[in-house]
Amino acid sequence: MNIPSYIKHEGVKEWIKKIAELTTPDSIHWCDGSQQEYDNLCELMVSTGTFKRLNPEKRPNSFLALSDPSDVARVEDRTFICSKRKSDAGPTNNWMNPVEMKNILKELFTGSMKGRTMYVIPFSMGPLGSTISHIGIEVTDSPYVVTNMRIMTRMGKEVYNVLGTNGAFVPAVHSVGAPLNNGEKDVPWPCNKDHKYIVHFPESREIWSYGSGYGGNALLGKKCFALRIASVMARDEGWLAEHMLILGVESPKGQKTYVAAAFPSACGKTNFAMLIPPKAFNGWKVTTVGDDIAWIKPGNDGKLYAINPEAGYFGVAPGTSMNSNPNAMQTISKNTIFTNVAMTEDGDVWWEGMTKTPPKKLIDWQGKEWTPDCGRKAAHPNARFTVPANQCPSIDKDWESPEGVPISAFVFGGRRSTTVPLIMQAFNWNFGVYMAATMGSETTAAAVGAVGEVRRDPMAMLPFCGYHMADYFNHWLQFGREIHNPPRIFSVNWFRKDAEGNFLWPGFGENMRALKWIVERVHGEAFAIESPLGWMPRYEDMDWAGWHDISQEQFYNLMSIDREQWKKEILSHEELFIKLYDKLPKEFVLMREMLLSGLWRSPEKWELEV
Ligand code: OXD
Ligand code: MN
Repeated sequence: MNIPSYIKHEGVKEWIKKIAELTTPDSIHWCDGSQQEYDNLCELMVSTGTFKRLNPEKRPNSFLALSDPSDVARVEDRTFICSKRKSDAGPTNNWMNPVEMKNILKELFTGSMKGRTMYVIPFSMGPLGSTISHIGIEVTDSPYVVTNMRIMTRMGKEVYNVLGTNGAFVPAVHSVGAPLNNGEKDVPWPCNKDHKYIVHFPESREIWSYGSGYGGNALLGKKCFALRIASVMARDEGWLAEHMLILGVESPKGQKTYVAAAFPSACGKTNFAMLIPPKAFNGWKVTTVGDDIAWIKPGNDGKLYAINPEAGYFGVAPGTSMNSNPNAMQTISKNTIFTNVAMTEDGDVWWEGMTKTPPKKLIDWQGKEWTPDCGRKAAHPNARFTVPANQCPSIDKDWESPEGVPISAFVFGGRRSTTVPLIMQAFNWNFGVYMAATMGSETTAAAVGAVGEVRRDPMAMLPFCGYHMADYFNHWLQFGREIHNPPRIFSVNWFRKDAEGNFLWPGFGENMRALKWIVERVHGEAFAIESPLGWMPRYEDMDWAGWHDISQEQFYNLMSIDREQWKKEILSHEELFIKLYDKLPKEFVLMREMLLSGLWRSPEKWELEV
């Protein structure tokens, strides 16, 4: 094995040797992260049919990959947390005994890279050398993964300098699970239809992924490292690894406020991260630090500092348009890898929601001819774009600052057609943690299960917390006790509907109105009244500039707290609590009681007017 001389870390060398012996690839490629290497791999994938080069005049340096139809999304039911004790993984994770799992993996990975090249990808989650960043090395037999990882992380040989001779790294092994025995011909999207395993060993901080080449199953820096493994590191070391976007709000006076916000998948996170304020909000600007994950560590000054551990966006394409998110559309105008979108006749891309009228003819995500009346979707609902973050027009000037940006507010939101008001502020840190822990979201067609059912998704971390969810709540509570000036916590709901099923709130850029109230609350500049659930703005506390037709009544419909609905809501928290009973913070039981008694004593019809 020819190990490059710039790798001085014996642990890395030993580990790579072991993986190569196990998986028996034909060759090993040590990724250096250069543009040349990226271009060569793209060319290689064009020649093998994995990539189609898009029309360079329409989408310079961009490619389209169509996956196997059986490999299109994260596989939560095949995702495992293999802590030594089952009780450390908790009831919301799939668990298997680590020794048993290692035996399964050993068998699966034996010879799994036969006939393929094994790529060694050194990467940093977060700016190279930042004290908030952490390093990983992914070994994979998929060139698609290498090119995506180069966009999504700081990938390249400089990482070995940071690692030195004995630095810590998260080892991540990935194989598509499709060895090419006896010169067998390859397919454009190799994967294993029978066996998929996305496995985390939280104690040894290892990741092993087998059988899928798609998204979070294969780009192991993202959900596997930056959330599942990092949440365990964060618990042990006293910080937070969260499923949160980070945005900056700049006021006309030049005051900058950073906000981190958690929403479950398919609630418009990328749109919120790249929000463009309404025209009448002259001088207000929203900037983007991250769209999916935040790593947050306490600074010496008692404030919290956050980085986006990623370097790119792996965003859902369908629904993205010049109306819903012009910043995202500009971001993906070049240097982008598209996966499972449709291709136009002139070699560009299209997906549902991109334009009002679909093109007359397309090649769909399964490579078939498509016409608007064919009855099939042109793009897969979970089709994606992978694009460098620095191409985003709203990128924050400090998005790569090694110190991170100071967080002043946490926002938690779900998709709720009833019950939850447009916006409120928690009474204090503990109530905020309770609110976030009990947050629910109605399932959409994108997730398995009955559509419209409320699924509790604490902090939007249900599929991403690498340990017992109730321990995670305790960690949040403890974290709040230790910081001098904790960020304020808010709940939002952009999805409330009237009795006829019409959305009551337009969303998108108009969400700036809620964001402005949040920022003003943080600085003690906005008024609020006390509701049974938290602090709320009245009609006159919101900025309606440029929006002439929202009546006080409409606003109160968005904000109303229905006593009966809320009693049911709070009773339903019990279900989650019983599930997590062995480790549930005792504060939660008391806070639930307090919320119930507050509701009980509130006026028959909650009035926002005082
Ligand atoms: C994502 C998700 O892909 O949350 O970001 O599912
Ligand atoms: Mn996400």
